[in-house]
Amino acid sequence: MNNFVFQNPTKLIMGAGMIARLSKEIPHDAKVLITFGGGSVKKNGVYKQVIDALQGYEYYEFWGIESNPTVETLREAIALGKEKNVDFVLAVGGGSVLDGSKLISAAILSDKDAWDLVLDGHRISETLPLGTVLTLPATGSEMNNGAVISRKDTAEKYGFYSNYPKFSILDPEVTFTLPTYQIACGIADTFVHVVEQYLTTPGQSRVMDRWAEGILLTLIEIAPQIKANQKDYKLMSDFMLSATMALNGFISMGVTQDWATHMIGHEITALVGLTHGHTLAIILPGTMQVLRDQKADKLVQYAERVWDIHHGTIDQRIDKAIQKTEDFFRSLGLTTRLSEEKIGMDIIEEIKKRFEQRKAAFGEQENVTGDVAYEILKTVV
Ligand code: NZQ
Ligand code: ZN
Repeated sequence: MNNFVFQNPTKLIMGAGMIARLSKEIPHDAKVLITFGGGSVKKNGVYKQVIDALQGYEYYEFWGIESNPTVETLREAIALGKEKNVDFVLAVGGGSVLDGSKLISAAILSDKDAWDLVLDGHRISETLPLGTVLTLPATGSEMNNGAVISRKDTAEKYGFYSNYPKFSILDPEVTFTLPTYQIACGIADTFVHVVEQYLTTPGQSRVMDRWAEGILLTLIEIAPQIKANQKDYKLMSDFMLSATMALNGFISMGVTQDWATHMIGHEITALVGLTHGHTLAIILPGTMQVLRDQKADKLVQYAERVWDIHHGTIDQRIDKAIQKTEDFFRSLGLTTRLSEEKIGMDIIEEIKKRFEQRKAAFGEQENVTGDVAYEILKTVV
């Protein structure tokens, strides 16, 4: 096990009706900027629950944070927050609203342009306090300090690190209205978050391995049941908690991490707009295939413990595990090939070029360069 320091300060508040607790969590004299996406929260009653809970508060609403939040939109929210002198940010929505609000809560206190904050490369430690009401299980943004921001005019998408939310409210009932496609992408995203922290170096931590495998097995168990009945409170609770636990640091203590699949996925989203979780469902089987020698021991463990594959040569077991992974994503209703999404060689070439320009070297062995990304993408054409 590698040395590590672990601290996750986010207060997790989970369960039906818990949005009403907002008034316990936000100081009554706070000036609150509430941030929203495109309006789903008006249709499913989340907006009303939030506003009811904030009666008597001074608050301002900002609407229109889009999927893959753009710095162009966020600058407007930052300007509103500065103008109104807010001192608390409350994000109500999916990962995009939460991520965008992490940038907003940092940029309101800064003189720098928001895009410069994203590119800066340092963890931002001075931010307004941020609370969240999560409506889409997927990103883990509700309990981590990461955010991914896009820039429209250059078709770029990069992550940055900031402060953790002070609290996050997770009411599984609010997920009942999610479109089937968003659920599929959310399950795929959660699955790949675990794999990015698990399918790396063997023998680093039994505890981390089994926590990771526990989340994967949970997802595999609940996915078909959710497909049959997405308004099942118990199923959606398990999905929501799985997504949070997959990317809040609890499964990455003392182990190496990969993240190459994510880095390639961000480029695809930036270039063609494909939804984040869907890009991962396409790329992950390619990453497993191209890096199968490097990841062989862990792939065999994954085959055995997650997919119950115990027989055959090592190569045959790895082949089966990769096939099972792709089949799982297809069972969610997602396509798993670039050609099915009309993504061609021009995009693959462009990603290779971008990685080369950035001197990219991703993955646990820092060997996923432009060339390797090209190989991975060619595998899943
Ligand atoms: O905008 P509204 O109208 O609210 O609709 C949203 C949006 O269209 C809708 N939605 C959300 N909750 C709903 C709902 N519709 C009905 N009922 C509900 N309860 O779903 C659509 C997608 O929302 P979005 O927030 O974009 O999805 P997601 O949560 O998957 O977030 C994706 C973003 O998070 C980043 C991704 O790159 C992407 O930009 N990620 C953030 C991470 C992090 N902070 O740690 C890690 C991830 O790997 C990921 O990169
Ligand atoms: Zn992700």
